[in-house]
Amino acid sequence: MSFRLQPTPPARPNRCQLFGPGSRPAIFEKMAASAADVINLDLEDSVAPSDKDSARENVIKATHEVDWGNKFLSVRINGLDSPYWYRDVVDLLEQASDRLDQIMIPKVGNAADIYAVDALVSSIEAAKGRTKPVAFEVIIESAAGIAHVEEIAAASPRLQAMSLGAADFAASMGMQTTGIGGTQANYYMLHEGQQHWSDPWHWAQAAIVAACRTHGVLPVDGPFGDFSDDEGFRAQARRSATLGMVGKWAIHPKQVAISNEVFTPSEEAVSEARDILAAMETAKANGEGATVYKGRLVDIASIKQAEVIVKQSEMIAGH
Ligand code: COA
Ligand code: MG
Repeated sequence: MSFRLQPTPPARPNRCQLFGPGSRPAIFEKMAASAADVINLDLEDSVAPSDKDSARENVIKATHEVDWGNKFLSVRINGLDSPYWYRDVVDLLEQASDRLDQIMIPKVGNAADIYAVDALVSSIEAAKGRTKPVAFEVIIESAAGIAHVEEIAAASPRLQAMSLGAADFAASMGMQTTGIGGTQANYYMLHEGQQHWSDPWHWAQAAIVAACRTHGVLPVDGPFGDFSDDEGFRAQARRSATLGMVGKWAIHPKQVAISNEVFTPSEEAVSEARDILAAMETAKANGEGATVYKGRLVDIASIKQAEVIVKQSEMIAGH
């Protein structure tokens, strides 16, 4: 962005996105009552082909009848390679209530995918006089998606968030694993006979964060499949937060609290960030650009780092 300011992403908490199949309306009220910031009702891969039509009807009904409180309400449509997606878009935009905040587009491969959905959504919104524009979230979960991640991040002003979908991504890349996120046993370095596990998702995550931050989009980590492994989920979420992601999916309600905890800056982190800002104020008053805080260098760049943590914390607290 050079001399232009980096755009700010939407100022809403997106610490956890709780998913549930559109074919399982019995859990919709439980999802609404959860502590997740975002609800993703799914029409795609958690719904069997024979249930696609009824799931769509359930979801549309739920936009009218369920009290979603202050949740950001998102519906995942089917992929553009399927025979279902156009009907998902048409029925949702024609029939869902204004409570629908967002549609999530899976398996995007390039900017044209988003353009196609945008054209359809824009036309229906105009025809129906919908005054609240629907936002988009996309899932990067293919080799094409990650190869074109920057043009995708820039594809539409509707785009608010971008997630990494580990399972489809792994399959598309030909990765030799059936794991959905987390540590992979064969991805290790060997040092003096000791195995040290590395992170096979790191590159894709960092590429997504860079594309998102360039274009004012929220970067989000996707699913962690082994919902019995709380500590594995926590470790994955912490790595994602450290890299700049703002939240993570929950594919089971027990993952919501961990995600909220990890993606809410801790009291200690906020207090240290405030101390750094105070130290830099003192330095500035003394005409210095750099100073020492707890034995380490802090300088003008440290102000920006500290502000990331303080602003994120204030945004979450104020919402
Ligand atoms: N949201 C809210 N509540 C949920 C839930 C969800 N996604 N999944 C389960 N629950 C509820 C159950 O109804 C149950 O409630 P109860 O205590 O009142 O009976 C409780 O949480 C415990 O559920 P549990 O028995 O452990 O799980 P399950 O076998 O019912 O469901 C899954 C497990 C994984 C099938 C289910 O969580 C699910 O469908 N997750 C989302 C899958 C998805 O959307 N995938 C697409 C994105 S990758
Ligand atoms: Mg997927």
